[in-house]
Amino acid sequence: MKIPLFKIYWDREDVKMVNSVIKKGAFWAGGTTIDKLEDKIAKYIGRKYCVVFNSGTAALHAALLTYKIKPGDEVIVPSFTFISTANVPLFIGAKPVFVDIEEKTFGLDPESVKKKITKKTKAIVPVHYGGCPCLIRELKKIADSYNLILIEDAAESFGARIRGKKVGTFGDSAMLSFCQNKIITTGEGGAIITDLRNVYEGLKLIRSHGRQEDPRYIDTPEYLDHITLGYNFRMSDMVAALGISQIKKVEKLIKMRRKNAEYLTQRLKAIDEIIIPSPLNNYFHVYQLYTIRVKKGKEERDNLMKYLGKKGISTRVYFYPVHLTRFYKRRFGYKKGKLPITEKISEQVLTLPLYPTLTKKEIDYIFEMICSFFKN
Ligand SMILES: Cc1ncc(COP(=O)(O)O)c(C=O)c1O
Repeated sequence: MKIPLFKIYWDREDVKMVNSVIKKGAFWAGGTTIDKLEDKIAKYIGRKYCVVFNSGTAALHAALLTYKIKPGDEVIVPSFTFISTANVPLFIGAKPVFVDIEEKTFGLDPESVKKKITKKTKAIVPVHYGGCPCLIRELKKIADSYNLILIEDAAESFGARIRGKKVGTFGDSAMLSFCQNKIITTGEGGAIITDLRNVYEGLKLIRSHGRQEDPRYIDTPEYLDHITLGYNFRMSDMVAALGISQIKKVEKLIKMRRKNAEYLTQRLKAIDEIIIPSPLNNYFHVYQLYTIRVKKGKEERDNLMKYLGKKGISTRVYFYPVHLTRFYKRRFGYKKGKLPITEKISEQVLTLPLYPTLTKKEIDYIFEMICSFFKN
């Protein structure tokens, strides 16, 4: 049996939607499909505005610029994340300040965040890891009391919620990613959602060369002035069309993921050597990742990963700490021991295959192979 880490869920409707833009033969970029997708995302999450981008990284970059984070400012981020959460402050000359995580959600630890706030701190960018909301309500209180901007990195948690309130509605703004292993995907893509009109307008300028936007800019003879420094962070209309058909299916996809996760959990809970995900009360986990912890740590985790690989089961470590990458060690002189919880968790975690179309038979096989590893 061969089981990949993730499989993209797509159907005829996706193909039809992309084709419909192609067949128009016009407005492959800058057309009304973009507005429609933005409207659907904003409505689904429950925010007033959405601006889509060609990646989540570009979206976060634009957000920090829009919030006028400047060189020398500090931005609090986890190290237990995909590297771009930390890189984005560097893009604009600000400093990513790494804070440790807590073990319940693998998100930023609110108490540790408080300790790292300085006069230079401008923003906190917490990550909702792998489909699980972080302690965002506690982080929101801290951001409010220190007057800091809170931008949620919800790249991995589209549709996750706490007491029915969706991730992405707790902070000032939030970033989403639609890259290929996410809850819904357009191959590459991202978005910022917010309730603030000025942030929305700022994002649109930065997305498109600082140009006053007009969807008819190809058609119109009018001169559209460039009023700030901007980038080309735009999504194409074909990609947006795919986003529209993907978001239509989102609740179904989440249901399928949760059902599979539940069955996997039911099976894996018999294995004493591992810790399985156990979301907090009222936390609605969407299982973008299904991550277990191997209690004994790195050596056993790595052996399990190799063993499963030989048995045709793909697994991966999400995440190795960002502060211990070669780039961050060289640039900032970071060493092991800086973030004890992050480092411990990172040596224990192993992400197993989980996707909407994973079958019971495949889950049983994953369970049996993990059992056979520990028996040997
Ligand atoms: C936590 C996190 N932040 C940021 C990103 C960056 O998103 P993108 O790959 O769309 O640029 C990702 C996705 O890969 C992610 O998982």
